[in-house]
Amino acid sequence: MKGIVLAGGAGSRLYPLTQVASKQLQPVYDKPMVYYPLTVLIAAGISQICLISTPNDLPRFQQLLGDGSQWGISIEYREQARPEGIAQAFLIAESFIGNDSVALILGDNIFLGGDAFPRAIADFSGGASIFAYHVNDPQRYGVVEFDAQGQAVSLEEKPVQPRSNFAVPGVYLYDHQVVEIARKLKPSARGELEITDINKDYLHRGKLRVNRMSRGSVWLDSGTSSSLHDASSYVQTIEKRQGVKLGCPEEAALHRGFISQTDFEKLVEGLPECEYRDYLSSVATGVGRVGFISA
Ligand code: DAU
Repeated sequence: MKGIVLAGGAGSRLYPLTQVASKQLQPVYDKPMVYYPLTVLIAAGISQICLISTPNDLPRFQQLLGDGSQWGISIEYREQARPEGIAQAFLIAESFIGNDSVALILGDNIFLGGDAFPRAIADFSGGASIFAYHVNDPQRYGVVEFDAQGQAVSLEEKPVQPRSNFAVPGVYLYDHQVVEIARKLKPSARGELEITDINKDYLHRGKLRVNRMSRGSVWLDSGTSSSLHDASSYVQTIEKRQGVKLGCPEEAALHRGFISQTDFEKLVEGLPECEYRDYLSSVATGVGRVGFISA
């Protein structure tokens, strides 16, 4: 399975921060936001990744992440000229996807801990596989409704009167047919190719699996100043308490065997003196390692 990180958009809700760096490059506690979704993909064993962003911001992502070889993965870059919808990612990345299945993750969605995502990848056998997460404010998201047997029966994008409290988080698994489905989509009332319309297509054909994320698992949104602050505080709290870092692509790559122990040590040696390097050094020597946490 290949992976797409969608990291474009106008970022207007974080103005003026986004005047100089896009939303997904803003810090979430001690690392850039995009490290978190990237780590989710790497930790799940995905090593071929395509990052999509605006023509303006793409060079900064390239500067930060390079071609991925330092982590034993490959990262390709594609431009989205205008924010015309999440589902447009499949058209932009068509040649990257080819005949493979693909995981799409939004660059501002933060998932911490839990194994729902790697499990869904391991169980994936075609169609689409998405997630459901109980929230207080479902009207801000795509919303999925379940029947009494727990089967998904409807999907709506930002409903004024949600039929459930289950939001659909910004990580999705699809077979390669997603490109054809995206090609047939019409823009919604807000002028976007909607990811919810893709999911509805799979639902209506009986090809949609919805994985409920367990109570206590963590999905944070970092799209407003307040939610960005909350996400930073959350990461700080866990990192201080556990003495591990979350959202570390280097550690995930080592854990997955994408880079050898020797290459990992060389990578760490090349980093400037800082807390991040100290942490990775402790991972290299196994000091204080608590076992790998999925992201
Ligand atoms: O966060 C999960 C939610 O993401 C889902 O529950 C919704 O179904 C889905 O539509 C989406 O909701 P939003 O409309 O609130 O997403 P937003 O427009 O904030 O875009 C999410 C991320 O994707 C953001 O980091 C910017 C990026 N993006 C968005 C669009 C529309 C792009 O890179 N290009 C785009 O064209």
